[in-house]
Amino acid sequence: MIRITNLNKGYKMSPTNTVEALKGVSLEIEDQEMMAFVGTSGSGKSTLLNILGGLDREYQGTVSVDGKDIKDYNPNVYRRKKVGTIFQQFHLLGPLTVEENVLLPIRFGKQYSWKEAKDRTDYLLGKVGLLDRKHHRPNQLSGGQMQRVAIARALISQPEIILADEPTGNLDTKTGTEIMELLGSFNQEENVSVLLVTHDQDLAKTVPRRVYVQDGKLTENL
Ligand SMILES: Nc1ncnc2c1ncn2[C@@H]1O[C@H](COP(=O)(O)OP(=O)(O)OP(=O)(O)O)[C@@H](O)[C@H]1O
Ligand SMILES: [Mg+2]
Repeated sequence: MIRITNLNKGYKMSPTNTVEALKGVSLEIEDQEMMAFVGTSGSGKSTLLNILGGLDREYQGTVSVDGKDIKDYNPNVYRRKKVGTIFQQFHLLGPLTVEENVLLPIRFGKQYSWKEAKDRTDYLLGKVGLLDRKHHRPNQLSGGQMQRVAIARALISQPEIILADEPTGNLDTKTGTEIMELLGSFNQEENVSVLLVTHDQDLAKTVPRRVYVQDGKLTENL
């Protein structure tokens, strides 16, 4: 379970000017939930996701995962075992093949043997429908395919939580819908929580739970 309590985040621009990006945010997210943060540009969605992903530790308030403050986790363990992150811009490494990109997060860990890692990569690439693109490089893929590689990479370490910041933002509606379905199926099959950000109300409606972000505050319509 994720518990966010009275989270405040200000970006200090100068001694007299701070942008208050999150203003007293509290929220609980159950294990294996799938939910969307919906809100207009600048409302604080990415700020919130970056904090949840352990990428930003400069905030007031507490965020705990499974009863433990995320600041008390070893940052590398937290970012590898607890959360997997998918970005709007995919962030694949150009010189590496699809297979190498997916394997990247576990290259430095001892979680799997090499054989297990390769088997899981094949399994995930099969699930996202890209087994036959294993030896392609990102610039030999379409946008939707790149996003599917990014999803496989986020899942390679079997994280408990997937964080996805506008995972369909760069895709056409049909491909966006497919990506949402893929995230939904991993949510069910791998028992992973999926927290995604979107400004697309129609896509958000396909997600079981929606939390609206407005000027650094949350409201929930059940
Ligand atoms: N590094 C930063 N320094 C200063 N201000 C920032 C920084 N990052 C974000 N902000 C400000 O914080 C507020 C929230 O930004 P955030 O990126 O979280 O919005 P968002 O909801 O993700 O928007 P978008 O939909 O455009 O991605 C905005 O007003 C933004 O200008
Ligand atoms: Mg954003």
